[in-house]
Amino acid sequence: MTAASPRTPAEIAELLAFYASAGVDDALEDTPINRFAEPTAKPAERRPAERAPAAPRREAAPESRTAPERAPERVENPPAPLSGLDASNIPDAPARAPAAAVPDEAQALLARQLAARATTLDELRQYMAAFDGCNLKFTAKNLVFADGNPNADLMLVGEAPGRDEDLEGLPFVGRSGRLLDRMLGAIGLDRTSAYIANVIPWRPPGNRTPTPHETEICRPFIERQIELVNPKVLVNLGGPSAKTLLNTTEGILRLRGNWRVHTTASGIAIPAMPTLHPAYLLRTPAHKKLAWRDFLEVKAKLRALG
Ligand code: URA
Repeated sequence: MTAASPRTPAEIAELLAFYASAGVDDALEDTPINRFAEPTAKPAERRPAERAPAAPRREAAPESRTAPERAPERVENPPAPLSGLDASNIPDAPARAPAAAVPDEAQALLARQLAARATTLDELRQYMAAFDGCNLKFTAKNLVFADGNPNADLMLVGEAPGRDEDLEGLPFVGRSGRLLDRMLGAIGLDRTSAYIANVIPWRPPGNRTPTPHETEICRPFIERQIELVNPKVLVNLGGPSAKTLLNTTEGILRLRGNWRVHTTASGIAIPAMPTLHPAYLLRTPAHKKLAWRDFLEVKAKLRALG
């Protein structure tokens, strides 16, 4: 602390109150830390809870609080606990892929191999929880896997969790989530009739934009998640989701409102509607009418597909 720093408990409380009212929600250190240069064992030591085979807080609940018309998913032979996961037992994988200390390409390769291996959503969640290849995991509190009904006809994919989502381990539970719920309600749906996930399952620190490397590393997981849910219709919430999953560089204002196709690794073509992100709509309420039109398109498509 500098000489001008507060010293008494009252001064410290005043400063903290100022930070909170200014929206500061992460305690960062004065000196930057190069986490890529840290010994690879450190992140695992820092986050023992992530190694536990049990799902993070409230993760199992959303998938079970559903009223599926199709049979609920069951894991007949759950994969062995993946504590200390490395690539050594995966054919053709890099010999070792320690936490965020090898080139991103090796981590992306490992992510692709793990994602391809998952035969159920539950397995996929376990592989992701054990995966140490994305540095975002080490600043996040929880893996934010999904919410809603995995048997739903509609799947929505956002960008990355924010603070509230990180705390709860569920996507879209903050302000933009409440708007999303109202948008779904407007077409007669809710979280028992839709499935919600993000391209990036860990909160980027300070809600910064995920880097292209982070997106590439996480991409196989969301692609496999879509393939396992196999929805009739996909909605991309915002530009990053649309660009990542629809293989385009066009901006969301041009993309939105037009049907595209998301093609899964096994070749299944899923109609996809890119639309405006609820967080953008909170900042730009005049554009809510555009999102409304997009959601009406989605409703009509779901009806047409029966
Ligand atoms: N924004 C997103 O893209 N995803 C969330 O889960 C929350 C906010």
